[in-house]
Amino acid sequence: MTAPANRYPRTVQIADGEVSVSLMTRADEADLLAFAQGLPVHDLLFLRRDITHPKVLSAWSDGIEGGSITSLIAREAGAIIGCSAVVRDELSFSPHVGELRVLVSPRGRDRGLGRVLIQESFLVALTLGLEKLIAQMTVDQKGAITVFEEMGFSAEALLKEHVRDPSGGKHDLVVLSHDVARFQAQMEAYGLTELI
Ligand SMILES: CC(C)(COP(=O)(O)OP(=O)(O)OC[C@H]1O[C@@H](n2cnc3c(N)ncnc32)[C@H](O)[C@@H]1OP(=O)(O)O)[C@@H](O)C(=O)NCCC(=O)NCCS
Repeated sequence: MTAPANRYPRTVQIADGEVSVSLMTRADEADLLAFAQGLPVHDLLFLRRDITHPKVLSAWSDGIEGGSITSLIAREAGAIIGCSAVVRDELSFSPHVGELRVLVSPRGRDRGLGRVLIQESFLVALTLGLEKLIAQMTVDQKGAITVFEEMGFSAEALLKEHVRDPSGGKHDLVVLSHDVARFQAQMEAYGLTELI
């Protein structure tokens, strides 16, 4: 299986254009901040922390350098229009579980980029040896839930009034999961691992 470091950067076709997908580094922080600050606040509620703050982005870079986060960014004509993160905690009692987070800017939406980032992140998870992936989102993000379900994720839990937006409104979060280990076993059974 190709290690992520050898796989990126790579150019991927999406509707009406192409993006360059690369592994995020600290050098991407300023562009990522501009990307995050251009997103509707509601799209950020599924994240543990508000990534419109430079400090949070710096902690994100720390996670990348420490090995707990593998992030991909997608650039169109130089500007970031999407990103993803596979987050894990090897010192926890769930070292085999990763959390997948995906964000696409309004300009990048409905062009297949979300699907590309989920596919690429899935590959990252396989390469890291993760056995289970979870993704959480507010229940009204119907588009997000549809994309993840199409990619084989299914609902596993509902967290009532779990996040609070800046105006005080509380929202439910749905947790979707994907059994990565089972998927890999199926690929192996069909002799398809070389295709990954
Ligand atoms: C989830 C998200 C990343 C999807 O990004 P995207 O680039 O628009 O997704 P894609 O274009 O790849 O869509 C893939 C499929 O999802 C479905 N889909 C996408 N948006 C949809 C919507 N608003 N309503 C219904 N279905 C939708 C379509 O079936 C689409 O398939 P198609 O290309 O055959 O039409 C984006 O909506 C987003 O950033 N949402 C806010 C953040 C969030 O909630 N992230 C998820 C938490 S991990």
